[in-house]
Amino acid sequence: MLSPDGNGHASAPVTVLITGGTGFVGSHLADELLLHGCPVPVLDNLDPQVHGPGREWPDYLDADVECRRGEVRDAEAVRDELRRVDAVFHFAAAVGVGQSMYEIEHYTDVNNRGTAVLLEVLTRTPVARLVVASGMSIHGEGLYCDRDGNEVAPPERPRAQLQEGRVEFEAADGEPLTPLATPETKPTHPASGYALSKLDQEKPCLMIGAVARGMQEAMAAVADGALDPFPVITHSIPLADLGRAFDLMRARPDGFMKAVVWP
Ligand SMILES: NC(=O)c1ccc[n+]([C@@H]2O[C@H](COP(=O)([O-])OP(=O)(O)OC[C@H]3O[C@@H](n4cnc5c(N)ncnc54)[C@H](O)[C@@H]3O)[C@@H](O)[C@H]2O)c1
Repeated sequence: MLSPDGNGHASAPVTVLITGGTGFVGSHLADELLLHGCPVPVLDNLDPQVHGPGREWPDYLDADVECRRGEVRDAEAVRDELRRVDAVFHFAAAVGVGQSMYEIEHYTDVNNRGTAVLLEVLTRTPVARLVVASGMSIHGEGLYCDRDGNEVAPPERPRAQLQEGRVEFEAADGEPLTPLATPETKPTHPASGYALSKLDQEKPCLMIGAVARGMQEAMAAVADGALDPFPVITHSIPLADLGRAFDLMRARPDGFMKAVVWP
């Protein structure tokens, strides 16, 4: 059984919301979570590009999935779901590289703004875990090495090279480069609207998540009596109400650590 803190200890079933859970990745994750005994609600707008003009719930989706047809850009719909779940996998997205270069508004709206809506609702209706699907496209081209074994992150291929039909990456002297497995440490270099929007899903989730985690750790340490490093502890707000903590943070430019949340 999964536990909300991810420590693997047996505990009550964890309810896991999957946004975009009717799609390719989400439906497989749903199968896996159901095997672990987790109730799995899915919030999905049944995008006709993915599910056809009929916008029917697909047969491949497990019958035990709780199907909610809804829009990740709709704060009310998202809030309704977050109130009754322990964790969220955020998979809802417009998915396509070429299309993102001409449907710019749509990709920005679904991916960037959809994630912003989710995060803003999460600050007021927090859950134990948020997992967002990023994508390798944020790194642009992969990592290569030259003939001396030096790692190279090549820029886009020059137009002249492509016009000659040479599509493999080459070093400045024309020698071919050898592809390497590309780690996440490779600097990001998004080269499409889709890639840019995936980066704009990943970064804010990590940023808001880090702030929320820091606050939760501070709360836990203070509650245990293990830590009292805060020069001023000025506010008392319920543990579950991180939204108010965020309000306090905004009101106090001298740092969120002073707005300690008490259990
Ligand atoms: N498939 C891959 O190889 C791959 C690789 C890297 C990252 N990803 C990411 O994983 C996630 C899932 O990818 P996938 O391949 O399953 O895509 P998919 O297109 O099969 O599924 C996406 C789901 O999101 C739903 N959706 C779209 N817009 C929505 C909205 N506004 N509100 C609610 N639901 C919405 C669609 O109806 C669909 O069911 C995406 O975020 C994608 O960028 C996928």
